[in-house]
Amino acid sequence: MSRIADRLQDIEPFHVMALLARAKQLEAEGKSIIHMEIGEPDFPTAPGIVEAGIKALEAGKTKYTPALGLPALRELIATSYDNHELPQPLSASRVVVTPGASGALQLVCSVLINPGDEVIMSDPTYPCNRHFVRLFEGKAVSVPVNAASAYQLTAAMIEANWTSKTVAVLLASPSNPAGTLIPDQELRAIATVVKTRGGILIVDEIYHGLTYEAEPMSAPDSALALDCDVFVINSFSKYYGMTGWRLGWLVAPEQTLPAIERLAQNFFLAAPTVAQYAALAAFTDDVQAELGSRRDQFRLRRDYLCPALEQLGFKVPVLPDGAFYVYCDASNFTNNSEQFCTSLLEEAGVAVTPGKDFGTFGASDHVRFSYANTIENLETGVARIKKFLDRQK
Ligand SMILES: Cc1ncc(COP(=O)(O)O)c(C=O)c1O
Repeated sequence: MSRIADRLQDIEPFHVMALLARAKQLEAEGKSIIHMEIGEPDFPTAPGIVEAGIKALEAGKTKYTPALGLPALRELIATSYDNHELPQPLSASRVVVTPGASGALQLVCSVLINPGDEVIMSDPTYPCNRHFVRLFEGKAVSVPVNAASAYQLTAAMIEANWTSKTVAVLLASPSNPAGTLIPDQELRAIATVVKTRGGILIVDEIYHGLTYEAEPMSAPDSALALDCDVFVINSFSKYYGMTGWRLGWLVAPEQTLPAIERLAQNFFLAAPTVAQYAALAAFTDDVQAELGSRRDQFRLRRDYLCPALEQLGFKVPVLPDGAFYVYCDASNFTNNSEQFCTSLLEEAGVAVTPGKDFGTFGASDHVRFSYANTIENLETGVARIKKFLDRQK
């Protein structure tokens, strides 16, 4: 069968997957590779969560849950917003448990987008965002952002790119690839623009919990206060270290829930049951303490890696506030970051993600380093990169 729908022409692969495949091949040949390309925590899932998962399996919790998720988990997620200064407590009825943030993004796009509708997002950004918009026949309006705005959209940029076809703005804070936050003040200003224009605000908060200075405001703080329509996407993948369990959530406006329930029933019936039972343990004090100490380790790694990269000659124009990425300007060494990453892998045994994976603006000058690896491995990686760069001189 050779038929593939036209829209698939616009769905690009993750370029880093090809790099990862090559890295694995080199490892299979006995070469040592330092992984600084990976977008998931290196820590295993916390023992308390794993035990809860095993217990769920043993107790036969292997049937579908309700499409919107286990009521107890929806409650716990809603309660986790209590330490944000929300204008009113978040109702569990607005929380939808999904197969990862990816499932949440799919629900949001399908509930909002009519053919031709525009969704504003930054370039660079998490690449699947524009692909999801495209799959629902919408148009991703990718607005170039650079270090001047910490690689984030501003209210002024959103205003300037709003058209009669714009329906929504999609933000991520902290972001992937730069790990930067949108300052609270700016997020409020963005919510005001979106509300004034009658649009929808979508905020991906998947790296919440992994921030190293201030705890950022959660989007409902600003948006609910203004009564602007906001969807918040989050996940158990990153802070909770559960990437492979495939579990995330969505906080949606009350009126959209019947439609979202219909979509969830049709798309995936329910999020994985064992993962949902396991996640009930994610909010216990023990697990939270464990996750907090992991966050501290990520902070130490960031504090080691950023100056080390700058010493090598990479530019780190904005210190990442969170996540586990550093988005570097590598223009001192290359204007073809993809080729640079390939050479770095082949000649130095260090895997790094080229800017191309996150868009087109400045992509050929930028690379993303992930510090989801031990300090020892990061040090080895830096030493190898130094030798590689010295050889280029
Ligand atoms: C910004 C962002 N959003 C969403 C996702 C998807 O995550 P999940 O594993 O929860 O589907 C990722 C994964 O890397 C991400 O970086």
